[in-house]
Amino acid sequence: MEVDRVQAIASLSKNVDTMPSEFVRSEDEQPAITTLHGVVLEVPVIDLSHSDEEKLVKLIADAAQNWGLFQVVNHGIPDEAISKLIEVGTKFFELPKEEKEVIAKTPESGIEGYGTILQTEIDGKRGWVDHLFHKIWPPSVINHKYWPKNPPSYREANEEYAKKLREVSDNLFKYLSLGVGLEGHEMKEAVGGDDLIYLLKINYYPPCPRPDLALGVVAHTDMSTLTILVPNEVQGLQVFRDGYWYNVKYVPNALIVHIGDQIEILSNGKYKAVLHRTTVNKEKTRMSWPVFLEPPPEHEVGPISKLVNEENPSKYKTKKYKDYVYCKLNKLPQ
Ligand code: OGA
Ligand code: NI
Repeated sequence: MEVDRVQAIASLSKNVDTMPSEFVRSEDEQPAITTLHGVVLEVPVIDLSHSDEEKLVKLIADAAQNWGLFQVVNHGIPDEAISKLIEVGTKFFELPKEEKEVIAKTPESGIEGYGTILQTEIDGKRGWVDHLFHKIWPPSVINHKYWPKNPPSYREANEEYAKKLREVSDNLFKYLSLGVGLEGHEMKEAVGGDDLIYLLKINYYPPCPRPDLALGVVAHTDMSTLTILVPNEVQGLQVFRDGYWYNVKYVPNALIVHIGDQIEILSNGKYKAVLHRTTVNKEKTRMSWPVFLEPPPEHEVGPISKLVNEENPSKYKTKKYKDYVYCKLNKLPQ
């Protein structure tokens, strides 16, 4: 199946000021009109090497409640592991089209593979972005067919990052668990324990002739439990809070943590899944490496029973993760 990759459209529109109309957003979405400037508030940046665990738990719980998104620094992943991850992914996207198409999605491949359109938008609009998905953990779910063979160090760099990321995510689950009064291990157990699936996505946003009118990914919340994202140096992520879109500033080597739908559900609404979107740039290519931490498909997720009582009745249904995904992708009520 021949798909128009945004990367190809971008190289055709390099020296012009126009782009195909399917990329022009409606006025209530256009970034030039809807972005808040001169902001007083900023997305929290949290130092994970904080020695006072109680304070750290409070900082994280506050950020997860009020923003649904925060950045973490001194997280324990060496800078080199992050720069290698960025380097090998960038090299893959710079390969000739034919080489990337070798691992293109097919109707059978499900989410994994190189692709462009994730889900058709109701108004027929398109995002200015291509992507690659593949799982990076646990070994039982990894399919190397969807991992680039080129550059040759792709595999090692991704394995190293996955290994380090597991430590960070275990800690984040612990802090989030303590932050709602649970024991440290309870939240991770509720999302599938060691069967939790680490799904890597690489977003590739080429230069765009009209960044004032287009979006990369449109406003959404992630279906995952948490999403932990590494961006390149080109800013573009925005979060929605109290009616405004805020830019998330680029902090070198920080990880950007998103609260996804499943943590909102488990916490019975105490933590908020963050509504976010991305803008694109006229001259530069933006890239990002989110890892979606997902419960296994058959795993049931619902509000944790200790967090439900007469004053806080259950706000969400308990259902298998795969059924949640099906409803969300098909825009059906949960
Ligand atoms: C996503 C996403 C944000 C980014 O792919 O779900 O929200 O910064 N990406 O690219
Ligand atoms: Ni997202």
